[in-house]
Amino acid sequence: MPSQRKRSAVRFRPGNRPGESTRVLISRARVRQRVRQMAREIRRDFPQDTLHLVGVLKGSVLFLADLARELGGEVSFDFLSVSSYGKGTNSTGEVKLIKDLDVSIEGRTVLVVEDILDTGLTLKYLLRLFEERKPKHLRVVVLLDKSERRISDVRADYTGFTIPNEFVVGYGLDFDERYRNLADVCILQFAQTARKQLAVP
Ligand code: IMP
Repeated sequence: MPSQRKRSAVRFRPGNRPGESTRVLISRARVRQRVRQMAREIRRDFPQDTLHLVGVLKGSVLFLADLARELGGEVSFDFLSVSSYGKGTNSTGEVKLIKDLDVSIEGRTVLVVEDILDTGLTLKYLLRLFEERKPKHLRVVVLLDKSERRISDVRADYTGFTIPNEFVVGYGLDFDERYRNLADVCILQFAQTARKQLAVP
């Protein structure tokens, strides 16, 4: 019978750089199932509307693509880009618009699609921006919610999973632009030396 320590070590797999390892937090099968349920819930709330999905680049791309295919009915999408973490794993707290939407959202049923809700600063900024543009409905869909980390008083209308305060990658989420292509949502762990170099708390 392996010790507790050995068993938990087995669950971590080497990452794609020295000092990094990953462990599955939410499997691809659970993600698929939950995305399907969320799509059903959203369609139930807006049975007749054309749903205009607004994806926040780049983390939401895989989630938005899967959600769009599960929604049925009329769906359109657009993307915008805001400043993100850069190389570290802690938010700078400052949000800047890097790429705006291509089309107007006035009079549309808009679903803001986010990969993860962390401090909530990004979402707060986006909601303020979008409310001024007079959509018919404005709703927020997030795959992951790290509710412990919240600073802003924002919440999603549809949440996939509430997760612990861990840095996660995969299914679109990155660390330094890497790991987005993992099919599962994984916890990214750093060896002590790597943590020091990256100034990870
Ligand atoms: P917030 O403004 O702090 O809520 O951060 C939102 C953005 O931070 C997300 O859209 C992600 O790009 C990024 N982010 C927050 N937590 C994580 C994480 O655990 N892994 C990868 N990116 C994250």
